[in-house]
Amino acid sequence: MSILDHTNSRTEVDIDGAQAFPRDFLWGAATAAYQVEGAAREDGRGPSIWDQFAATPGKVYQGETGEVASDHYHRYLADVELIKSLGLGAYRFSISWSRVLPQGVGAINQAGLDFYDRLVDALLARDIMPMATLYHWDLPLALHEKGGWISRDTAYAFADYAELMARRLGDRVRLWQTHNEPWCVAFLGYGTGEHAPGLKDMSQLATVGHHLLVAHGLALPRMRASLHADAQIGITLNFTPAYAADKQPATLEAVERSSRGNRWFADPLFRGSYPTELFADLGTVPPPIQDSDMELISAPIDFLGVNNYSRVLFQASADGSQSYPVEAVPGALYTEMNWEVYPQGLGDLLVWLHEEYAPGALIVTESGAAFADEWDGSSELVRDPLRLAYMRDYIRAVGGAIERGAPVKGYFTWSLMDNFEWAYGYSKRFGIVYIDYPTQRRILKESAHWYASLIHRQREFHEG
Ligand code: FCB
Repeated sequence: MSILDHTNSRTEVDIDGAQAFPRDFLWGAATAAYQVEGAAREDGRGPSIWDQFAATPGKVYQGETGEVASDHYHRYLADVELIKSLGLGAYRFSISWSRVLPQGVGAINQAGLDFYDRLVDALLARDIMPMATLYHWDLPLALHEKGGWISRDTAYAFADYAELMARRLGDRVRLWQTHNEPWCVAFLGYGTGEHAPGLKDMSQLATVGHHLLVAHGLALPRMRASLHADAQIGITLNFTPAYAADKQPATLEAVERSSRGNRWFADPLFRGSYPTELFADLGTVPPPIQDSDMELISAPIDFLGVNNYSRVLFQASADGSQSYPVEAVPGALYTEMNWEVYPQGLGDLLVWLHEEYAPGALIVTESGAAFADEWDGSSELVRDPLRLAYMRDYIRAVGGAIERGAPVKGYFTWSLMDNFEWAYGYSKRFGIVYIDYPTQRRILKESAHWYASLIHRQREFHEG
């Protein structure tokens, strides 16, 4: 039986405000290489676009970089112990492409591969299921210099890299993801320039997006050939569901348009075509689609990874001619990212994905909140009641979606620990574990305790 192939048997039992989840539901936490590892220049790692971007003045808050980050490269064993102590069943991490292939292609950095070996072995020794993401935004700089994702060659390089990792870890890692949030890679990296590589050219967005998808499609068969028969491969997409505050035509049109953004990657993956009007919406030239690209891209995947944090609510202007996102929904709570807390959005999204695309399985690969946590410098606990409530309500919404038929097989909180939040540097804390950066001390937040006890109770319930 495959690890994702369990029935969604549910009961009426209410556990700590959250329902009983299926027996084999994966409870996990997520991180990404550049955000936590540090050791940016150690053991032969090559530079990535994020090293270069962060080193460019004005790109990241206060000039912060991922040079040290949460020092996970050195502290991975203690971090794995922490994961174990919380009772998490799974850990989602990403592989730094330039750590294993410093130039992106060609010469392999053995020390880099060894690090992921050690990490995976440490997880498995403690019964924690590793979930590896191949691309969480840190393109080797050498590939960027040859065109990055604007060049189709990067997709071929990615497929080679994917095969290398599948061969190396495939005997032990059963859960794989090609990309994390290609929307962000294309839009923020090449369109608005808020993320590395910092290009600001909307006209190339569709090409970048297409090459990311081609990379995924090329990698799938190459990975499957090296992985266990029961390995599961997916991709993670980010979604911000759109809602209407009124029934004005301008609002309905805005919701429709925003929803097309949510289909940018899902439609090609599940239907083999791009949404009509997408390229016009994006103001981009259509991508260079080669003959068998769409078949390649829409080859079946085992699960869809879903990242969701918030929603967007559109409201018409007084004269009804335009509709804009509401900046402050009355009565709503906003996180430090200025994202509205809207748990129902995740529930609705999971049900929509199930009804719209019928993926074999859905896994919430990220959901979480940044709040301004404070540590008093000595105690063993950081109080974060808002994050705790966020997690409780979002997890409850996932339970509701399962009840409504969505095949959700896991939930990974973003993030295991505080880390380098891209352009925001270390100013936004998403962890359930607090990091005191000057000492790298880890301190559990209340949300970590709550999550651990939820998982414990779920286990007790199923195991009696
Ligand atoms: C997601 C990213 C993740 C993290 C969270 C807050 O878009 O995948 O790395 O930055 O947002």
